Amino acid sequence: MKKLTLTALSAMAFSLTSLAAQAGDPEAGASAFQSQCQNCHNVTNEAGDVLAGRPNVRTGPNLYAVLGRQAGIVEGFRYGASLVSAGEAGLVWDDEPMTAYLQDPQGFLRETLGDNRARSQMSFRVRDEETAVNIIAFLDSLAPRDEEEANGDDEEEAAAD
Ligand code: HEC
Repeated sequence: MKKLTLTALSAMAFSLTSLAAQAGDPEAGASAFQSQCQNCHNVTNEAGDVLAGRPNVRTGPNLYAVLGRQAGIVEGFRYGASLVSAGEAGLVWDDEPMTAYLQDPQGFLRETLGDNRARSQMSFRVRDEETAVNIIAFLDSLAPRDEEEANGDDEEEAAAD
């Protein structure tokens, strides 16, 4: 019902970053993560502490600090080519694209890349938007607050004069 086009979503992602994270319920997201995501993913920080899920689960990439990160760049994880291409084309996991991705990873990649043969290696789908938003709020609650601004990723291109 609430389907927006992905083009609109990507445009909105800029201005609405963090809206979904604010609206979501991280506690509900924690239990949804446990039942729906942790068979394939965990959340492990740089120090190696497992913040969610179980150690040594590597079917899917580590979801630590995934919000705001380019798609497909966790080191050592063998992504499918489509997700890597989407990341290289500029896909960043803000709330809006991740909400869409979680509900239909392959459909999302096909739309984003404009390629009907794009494939997702994640076949799982979250059934409703509310659950997706809650899980995103949960993942956001585990993200490194202070480092987020200090990463300096944006400065690379800023110095062009
Ligand atoms: C059956 C295993 C499986 C389940 C269950 C699963 N995933 Fe995934 N997930 C994967 C795989 C495999 C990939 C890599 C996809 C690719 O390369 O196309 C992935 C990729 C992702 C990515 C992209 C990460 C990046 O670094 O770009 C996100 C975000 C994600 N999953 C979130 C979730 C969440 C949240 C859940 C629970 C609702 C979930 N996944 C459930 C296997 C799974």
